[in-house]
Amino acid sequence: MALRLGDIAPDFTAETTEGTIEFHKWLGNSWGVLFSHPADFTPVCTTELGTVAKLQNEFKKRNVKTIALSVDPLDSHMEWIKDINETQHTTVNFPIIADPIFEVSKLYDMIHPNASDRFTVRSVFVIGPDKKIKLILTYPASTGRNFDELLRVIDSLQLTASHSVATPANWRDGDDVVISPAIKDEDIAAKFPKGHTKIKPYLRLTPQPNK
Ligand code: BEZ
Repeated sequence: MALRLGDIAPDFTAETTEGTIEFHKWLGNSWGVLFSHPADFTPVCTTELGTVAKLQNEFKKRNVKTIALSVDPLDSHMEWIKDINETQHTTVNFPIIADPIFEVSKLYDMIHPNASDRFTVRSVFVIGPDKKIKLILTYPASTGRNFDELLRVIDSLQLTASHSVATPANWRDGDDVVISPAIKDEDIAAKFPKGHTKIKPYLRLTPQPNK
Protein backbone atom coordinates (compact mmCIF):
# COMPACT_ATOMS: atom_id res chain seq x y z
CA MET A 1 0.00 0.00 0.00
CA ALA A 2 1.20 3.52 -0.75
CA LEU A 3 2.82 5.48 2.06
CA ARG A 4 0.81 8.27 3.64
CA LEU A 5 1.52 11.25 5.87
CA GLY A 6 1.97 10.13 9.46
CA ASP A 7 3.21 6.66 8.50
CA ILE A 8 6.58 5.56 9.89
CA ALA A 9 9.15 5.96 7.09
CA PRO A 10 10.18 2.40 6.19
CA ASP A 11 13.62 1.51 7.50
CA PHE A 12 16.21 -0.02 5.18
CA THR A 13 19.91 -0.77 4.83
CA ALA A 14 21.46 0.40 1.56
CA GLU A 15 24.77 0.96 -0.18
CA THR A 16 25.43 4.65 -0.69
CA THR A 17 28.23 6.87 -1.93
CA GLU A 18 29.10 7.42 1.74
CA GLY A 19 29.11 3.73 2.73
CA THR A 20 26.42 1.38 3.98
CA ILE A 21 23.61 3.23 5.70
CA GLU A 22 20.98 1.92 8.08
CA PHE A 23 18.40 4.57 7.42
CA HIS A 24 16.77 5.12 10.82
CA LYS A 25 20.11 4.90 12.62
CA TRP A 26 21.65 7.32 10.13
CA LEU A 27 18.78 9.79 10.67
CA GLY A 28 19.29 9.75 14.44
CA ASN A 29 17.45 12.74 15.90
CA SER A 30 17.57 14.74 12.68
CA TRP A 31 14.86 15.55 10.20
CA GLY A 32 15.42 13.81 6.87
CA VAL A 33 14.81 14.45 3.18
CA LEU A 34 14.85 11.33 1.01
CA PHE A 35 14.55 12.19 -2.68
CA SER A 36 14.71 10.03 -5.79
CA HIS A 37 15.99 10.65 -9.30
CA PRO A 38 15.22 8.86 -12.54
CA ALA A 39 18.82 8.03 -13.45
CA ASP A 40 22.49 9.02 -13.30
CA PHE A 41 24.06 11.22 -15.98
CA THR A 42 20.79 12.98 -16.78
CA PRO A 43 20.66 16.76 -17.08
CA VAL A 44 17.86 17.75 -14.71
CA CYS A 45 19.08 15.39 -11.97
CA THR A 46 22.57 16.82 -12.30
CA THR A 47 21.27 20.33 -11.57
CA GLU A 48 19.10 19.07 -8.69
CA LEU A 49 21.92 17.29 -6.89
CA GLY A 50 24.19 20.31 -7.39
CA THR A 51 21.49 22.54 -5.91
CA VAL A 52 21.05 20.33 -2.84
CA ALA A 53 24.84 20.28 -2.33
CA LYS A 54 24.92 24.09 -2.41
CA LEU A 55 22.02 24.26 0.07
CA GLN A 56 23.65 21.97 2.66
CA ASN A 57 24.19 24.83 5.11
CA GLU A 58 20.49 25.69 4.92
CA PHE A 59 19.53 22.07 5.58
CA LYS A 60 22.04 21.79 8.45
CA LYS A 61 20.70 24.99 10.06
CA ARG A 62 17.33 23.23 10.20
CA ASN A 63 18.81 19.94 11.52
CA VAL A 64 17.92 18.18 8.26
CA LYS A 65 19.96 15.39 6.63
CA THR A 66 19.49 14.87 2.90
CA ILE A 67 19.85 11.57 1.07
CA ALA A 68 19.28 10.99 -2.65
CA LEU A 69 18.45 7.80 -4.52
CA SER A 70 18.83 6.65 -8.08
CA VAL A 71 18.46 3.15 -9.46
CA ASP A 72 21.96 3.06 -10.93
CA PRO A 73 24.82 1.21 -9.21
CA LEU A 74 27.42 2.70 -6.89
CA ASP A 75 30.30 2.93 -9.41
CA SER A 76 28.04 4.92 -11.72
CA HIS A 77 27.07 7.29 -8.86
CA MET A 78 30.77 7.83 -8.06
CA GLU A 79 31.54 8.81 -11.66
CA TRP A 80 28.44 10.99 -11.90
CA ILE A 81 29.36 12.90 -8.72
CA LYS A 82 32.56 14.05 -10.48
CA ASP A 83 30.42 15.52 -13.27
CA ILE A 84 28.02 17.15 -10.81
CA ASN A 85 30.87 18.76 -8.90
CA GLU A 86 32.47 19.98 -12.12
CA THR A 87 29.39 21.32 -13.89
CA GLN A 88 27.51 22.69 -10.84
CA HIS A 89 30.62 24.15 -9.18
CA THR A 90 30.03 22.41 -5.87
CA THR A 91 30.93 19.32 -3.86
CA VAL A 92 28.27 16.68 -3.34
CA ASN A 93 28.50 16.20 0.39
CA PHE A 94 25.56 13.95 1.17
CA PRO A 95 24.90 10.27 0.35
CA ILE A 96 23.31 8.95 -2.84
CA ILE A 97 21.72 5.51 -2.50
CA ALA A 98 22.48 2.92 -5.17
CA ASP A 99 19.27 1.00 -5.76
CA PRO A 100 19.86 -1.17 -8.84
CA ILE A 101 17.33 -3.81 -7.84
CA PHE A 102 14.72 -1.28 -6.69
CA GLU A 103 14.68 -2.37 -3.06
CA VAL A 104 14.27 1.10 -1.54
CA SER A 105 12.34 2.44 -4.55
CA LYS A 106 9.67 -0.21 -4.09
CA LEU A 107 9.54 0.31 -0.35
CA TYR A 108 8.78 4.00 -0.95
CA ASP A 109 6.61 3.51 -4.07
CA MET A 110 9.01 5.58 -6.18
CA ILE A 111 8.42 3.53 -9.33
CA HIS A 112 5.29 4.68 -11.16
CA PRO A 113 4.85 2.12 -13.95
CA ASN A 114 2.65 4.37 -16.08
CA ALA A 115 5.54 6.87 -16.16
CA SER A 116 8.32 4.25 -16.39
CA ASP A 117 8.78 0.79 -14.95
CA ARG A 118 12.58 1.12 -15.14
CA PHE A 119 13.21 4.44 -13.39
CA THR A 120 12.10 6.17 -10.23
CA VAL A 121 10.07 9.36 -10.54
CA ARG A 122 11.13 12.48 -8.62
CA SER A 123 9.76 11.62 -5.18
CA VAL A 124 10.47 13.62 -2.03
CA PHE A 125 9.81 12.44 1.51
CA VAL A 126 10.34 14.72 4.49
CA ILE A 127 10.71 12.67 7.66
CA GLY A 128 10.52 14.05 11.19
CA PRO A 129 12.77 13.14 14.14
CA ASP A 130 9.97 10.75 15.20
CA LYS A 131 10.60 8.89 11.86
CA LYS A 132 7.11 9.77 10.66
CA ILE A 133 6.51 11.01 7.12
CA LYS A 134 5.61 14.71 7.19
CA LEU A 135 5.51 15.53 3.47
CA ILE A 136 5.31 13.58 0.20
CA LEU A 137 5.89 15.22 -3.18
CA THR A 138 5.91 13.54 -6.59
CA TYR A 139 7.26 15.29 -9.67
CA PRO A 140 7.58 13.93 -13.21
CA ALA A 141 11.04 13.29 -14.67
CA SER A 142 10.80 16.36 -16.89
CA THR A 143 10.33 18.88 -14.04
CA GLY A 144 13.20 19.74 -11.73
CA ARG A 145 12.22 20.42 -8.15
CA ASN A 146 12.28 23.76 -6.34
CA PHE A 147 14.46 23.13 -3.27
CA ASP A 148 13.81 26.62 -1.89
CA GLU A 149 10.18 25.54 -1.66
CA LEU A 150 11.28 22.41 0.17
CA LEU A 151 13.15 24.54 2.74
CA ARG A 152 10.09 26.77 3.08
CA VAL A 153 7.89 23.74 3.81
CA ILE A 154 10.42 22.42 6.34
CA ASP A 155 10.30 25.82 8.10
CA SER A 156 6.52 25.48 8.27
CA LEU A 157 6.65 21.85 9.44
CA GLN A 158 9.12 22.67 12.20
CA LEU A 159 7.18 25.74 13.33
CA THR A 160 3.79 24.05 13.36
CA ALA A 161 5.20 21.00 15.18
CA SER A 162 5.90 23.14 18.24
CA HIS A 163 3.29 25.93 18.13
CA SER A 164 -0.51 25.88 17.69
CA VAL A 165 -0.34 27.68 14.35
CA ALA A 166 -0.59 26.99 10.63
CA THR A 167 1.09 28.86 7.78
CA PRO A 168 -0.96 30.64 5.12
CA ALA A 169 -0.50 30.59 1.35
CA ASN A 170 2.97 31.61 0.19
CA TRP A 171 4.10 32.06 3.79
CA ARG A 172 7.80 32.56 4.32
CA ASP A 173 9.78 32.35 7.54
CA GLY A 174 9.14 35.59 9.46
CA ASP A 175 5.65 36.28 8.06
CA ASP A 176 2.52 36.30 10.22
CA VAL A 177 0.92 32.91 10.83
CA VAL A 178 -2.60 31.61 11.32
CA ILE A 179 -3.74 30.69 14.83
CA SER A 180 -5.01 27.11 14.93
CA PRO A 181 -8.83 26.87 14.84
CA ALA A 182 -8.55 24.65 17.96
CA ILE A 183 -7.48 27.66 20.05
CA LYS A 184 -10.42 29.48 21.66
CA ASP A 185 -10.51 33.29 21.39
CA GLU A 186 -10.26 33.60 25.18
CA ASP A 187 -7.01 31.60 25.22
CA ILE A 188 -5.24 33.57 22.50
CA ALA A 189 -3.79 36.36 24.67
CA ALA A 190 -1.99 33.92 26.95
CA LYS A 191 -0.74 31.74 24.13
CA PHE A 192 0.22 34.50 21.68
CA PRO A 193 1.46 37.48 23.74
CA LYS A 194 2.71 39.31 20.63
CA GLY A 195 -0.93 40.07 19.81
CA HIS A 196 -3.28 39.00 17.05
CA THR A 197 -5.64 40.26 14.38
CA LYS A 198 -9.09 38.74 14.03
CA ILE A 199 -10.11 39.05 10.38
CA LYS A 200 -12.95 36.51 10.65
CA PRO A 201 -13.84 34.23 13.58
CA TYR A 202 -11.96 31.45 11.77
CA LEU A 203 -9.11 33.61 10.42
CA ARG A 204 -6.88 34.95 13.18
CA LEU A 205 -3.33 36.04 12.49
CA THR A 206 -0.41 36.47 14.88
CA PRO A 207 3.27 37.30 14.48
CA GLN A 208 5.43 34.19 14.09
CA PRO A 209 5.81 32.97 17.70
CA ASN A 210 9.39 31.69 17.49
CA LYS A 211 10.89 34.90 16.06
C1 BEZ B 1 16.81 14.44 -16.28
O1 BEZ B 1 17.11 14.28 -15.12
O2 BEZ B 1 17.32 15.31 -16.94
C2 BEZ B 1 15.76 13.62 -16.94
C3 BEZ B 1 15.59 12.29 -16.56
C4 BEZ B 1 14.64 11.51 -17.19
C5 BEZ B 1 13.85 12.08 -18.18
C6 BEZ B 1 14.00 13.41 -18.53
C7 BEZ B 1 14.97 14.18 -17.90
